[in-house]
Amino acid sequence: MEGDLTRVLVTEDQIRVRLGELAREIERDYTGRDLLLVGVLRGAVMVMADLARSLERHVEMDWMAVSSYGSGTTSSGVVRILKDLDSDITGRDVLVVEDIIDTGLTLSWLVSNLSSRGPSSVSICTLLRKPEAQRMAVDVGYVGFEIPDEFVVGYGLDYAERYRNLRCIGTLAPHVYT
Ligand code: PRP
Repeated sequence: MEGDLTRVLVTEDQIRVRLGELAREIERDYTGRDLLLVGVLRGAVMVMADLARSLERHVEMDWMAVSSYGSGTTSSGVVRILKDLDSDITGRDVLVVEDIIDTGLTLSWLVSNLSSRGPSSVSICTLLRKPEAQRMAVDVGYVGFEIPDEFVVGYGLDYAERYRNLRCIGTLAPHVYT
């Protein structure tokens, strides 16, 4: 799989170290409070698994699956819920765990949806963030890496459902598309 990459943007080691740093921040910020991690399927599976295990405290985990309406590779901002949370988040401290924020449209919709359910707080932790997302009015509490506006795969991120199980994050070589 790694032979299909033109460039490794984030190595396995860098991911592990950065998630450890974010975990320490999260432990500090949520001291004395219960924490519910909400992973957004499917890309966030790897981040969720590694972040949760980096946290040296109790957490609960729940999952949502959402999909942008329409087809194509860019988000429309109109989202539908494919799988909702199993938990009632009323009065809970919720931390949404994402692999990437690209346009920010998915997260922006998700945060407003979750906020309408009466949680005590909703914050976001994303491993990757692209430049465009920074223009969105979404408050992202924890960002692993700022990356350039390139198509990336690995560590949960796919191209045609492949490469999610790659341990690093990188850009795909053109021969893969053709
Ligand atoms: C990715 C990612 C985010 C969303 C970000 O999911 O996991 O949920 O896109 O894009 P945005 O900031 O432009 O809205 P995707 O729809 O590819 O589904 P997947 O996680 O199942 O791969």
